[in-house]
Amino acid sequence: MNSFTYRYPVTVYFGEKAARKSLPAELEKVGKNVMLAYGGGSIKKNGVYDELMGLLAAAGKNVTEFSGIMSNPTYAKVQEGASLARENEIDFILAVGGGSVIDCCKVVSAQAKTDSDLWELETVQHGGPTEFIPMGAVVTAFGTGAEMNNGAVITNEEKKIKGALWGAFYDFAILDPAYTMTMPMSQVVSGAFDALSHCMETYMGVPRETNLSDEINEACQRNIIRNLRATLNDPQDIGARSELVWAAAMGENGMLKIGKVTDFQAHMLEHQLGAYTNCNHGQGLAVIHPVLYRHMLPEAVPQFARLAVNVWGVDPAGKAEAELANAFIDALASFIKEVGLPTTFAEMGIPTDTDYKAVADSTVLTAGCCKKFTKDELLAVLNECR
Ligand code: NZQ
Ligand code: ZN
Repeated sequence: MNSFTYRYPVTVYFGEKAARKSLPAELEKVGKNVMLAYGGGSIKKNGVYDELMGLLAAAGKNVTEFSGIMSNPTYAKVQEGASLARENEIDFILAVGGGSVIDCCKVVSAQAKTDSDLWELETVQHGGPTEFIPMGAVVTAFGTGAEMNNGAVITNEEKKIKGALWGAFYDFAILDPAYTMTMPMSQVVSGAFDALSHCMETYMGVPRETNLSDEINEACQRNIIRNLRATLNDPQDIGARSELVWAAAMGENGMLKIGKVTDFQAHMLEHQLGAYTNCNHGQGLAVIHPVLYRHMLPEAVPQFARLAVNVWGVDPAGKAEAELANAFIDALASFIKEVGLPTTFAEMGIPTDTDYKAVADSTVLTAGCCKKFTKDELLAVLNECR
């Protein structure tokens, strides 16, 4: 296992009525001017908005609403939120939504405190923000685990890059599985696949021998697979939903990454696909993963073979390691079909004239991936995904 330092700053309030139980005390600790940030309005249809507004009013807060945060949030939207935060002298941001709202606010919280252009500061000058507006997250869509970390995935439309900016950690995250019960089933499935992908991408990193993080990781993967099946069987199964919400958070709270350098090559490729097509994140990953893994196979036999046996329940008796490794990719691909995820870009509605060469050329090559991909081979992967 590699050396590591582990500190975890986010307080998690998990379970039924978590907002009601925890928000009043949390709101006492923060200033009067609160920004309530949310997306396209699902929280107004399912009662979450009314409940939170009631708690904010009871705490005597002045509320500024920052709404319309889109899926795959843009850098322009971040700037809009930062201006609003400055104008209204915001003391605290309450981000309510899925990964998109939660990520957008991480950068709003930093951008509101500096005149520097954060994209330039972080990606060109390799600096980082030092001051933040404190924040809390209320998760309404699980999958990304974005509430658990301080990385934000933001689309810079001008530069055609969907990349990571570092922002603040949330002071607390409220995870009430009941809040996720109104998610469209397609988003439940793509969120769960995103969570599975985070586990796989972490598992496939360095060192390649199993360590404790990987053994916990295998349990998370089994849990996601089992509970997604249970959820498809009974969408009202709150027990299964609760497991998925926490498994997704486990994927991104750093625990599985302890002592490892992660892979995340599939994510880097999908993010750039998103920069060019604004596609759904989990669906993009579902198409890319099996194809990318077939390219990685020669370099990844021991890890893939372990996943076949320890996660997918393939019987190892009489099978060579290479056969097991192939069985893992076959099991993953058939699960993707079973849960109704797309298997080609065409099924996702991605236009046929997408500039895949530009997508491949702008993709980051990751340090933890067992295969050193070239841009040409990534282009081949994308072409096989069409
Ligand atoms: O905008 P509203 O109206 O709220 O609707 C949203 C949105 O359309 C809807 N939704 C959310 N909660 C709901 C609900 N609909 C009904 N009932 C509810 N309770 O769900 C749709 C998708 O939401 P979004 O936040 O876009 O999805 P997701 O959570 O998958 O987030 C995707 C973003 O997170 C990034 C992705 O790249 C993408 O930009 N990621 C962030 C990560 C991180 N920070 O750690 C890691 C991931 O790998 C990922 O890259
Ligand atoms: Zn992801």
